[in-house]
Amino acid sequence: MSVRRRLVIGNWKMNGSKAENQQLLSDLVKLQNAAAANEAAAELAVCAPFPYLQQVADTLKDSAIGWGGQDASEHAKGAYTGEVSVAMLAEFGCAWVIVGHSERRAYHGETSDVVARKAAAAIAGGIAPVVCIGETQAEREAGNTLRVISSQLEPVLALGAEAVSKMVLAYEPVWAIGTGLTASPEQAQEVHAHIRSLLVQAGAPEQRVLYGGSVKAANAASLFAKEDIDGALVGGASLVATDFQGIANA
Ligand code: G3P
Repeated sequence: MSVRRRLVIGNWKMNGSKAENQQLLSDLVKLQNAAAANEAAAELAVCAPFPYLQQVADTLKDSAIGWGGQDASEHAKGAYTGEVSVAMLAEFGCAWVIVGHSERRAYHGETSDVVARKAAAAIAGGIAPVVCIGETQAEREAGNTLRVISSQLEPVLALGAEAVSKMVLAYEPVWAIGTGLTASPEQAQEVHAHIRSLLVQAGAPEQRVLYGGSVKAANAASLFAKEDIDGALVGGASLVATDFQGIANA
């Protein structure tokens, strides 16, 4: 069991509508208020598509649930059509921003150097980056998982201990995302322990490392029982309030 406060973040991805969001958010607030009496309650946040950030901020502003974006530009401002800056996210009260999600690495060619620059921009703008890393099925089958994780983290950890102390990491094996093939607690702990060793070397040993990849209320407790798994980055299950709260309470 981790000694760090559990953190459960919902990544809505490109899902939702104003009506669906309002129902989900109000259900979440009710459930979280009920759970908040338990001082060991997990810290919760949701990361919504950009167009809904004002709705999320308005609905969650008096709750204990945080919110954030799913990406941010490495640039502060300028001719970057379609991008959203950290400063813009901050205007919507975002405390979090996911960077380097495998879907952005795959579909938008984001390299680990770009991810590190995005993380640095988030930190400079006062927003905590949730830095995603993870291997593909082929990389795992080739026995390269830990080498891939080290390589993806290298430019991020090179930002220095002070910067790393302001971020959260999320290990998301690509083969477990959206597939129902959750990593076993042992598989996940092996990688989390490796990440923890890298954090120790970087001078930021206590940063939280989340697991992501088909986390459900039914499997969350076995993952959270592992000493280096500090919470979850949740996709599909974050779109149903009872499922998301069930993970938080696992
Ligand atoms: O960022 C979290 C996401 O990639 C995990 O998705 O649907 O497997 O929980 P899911």
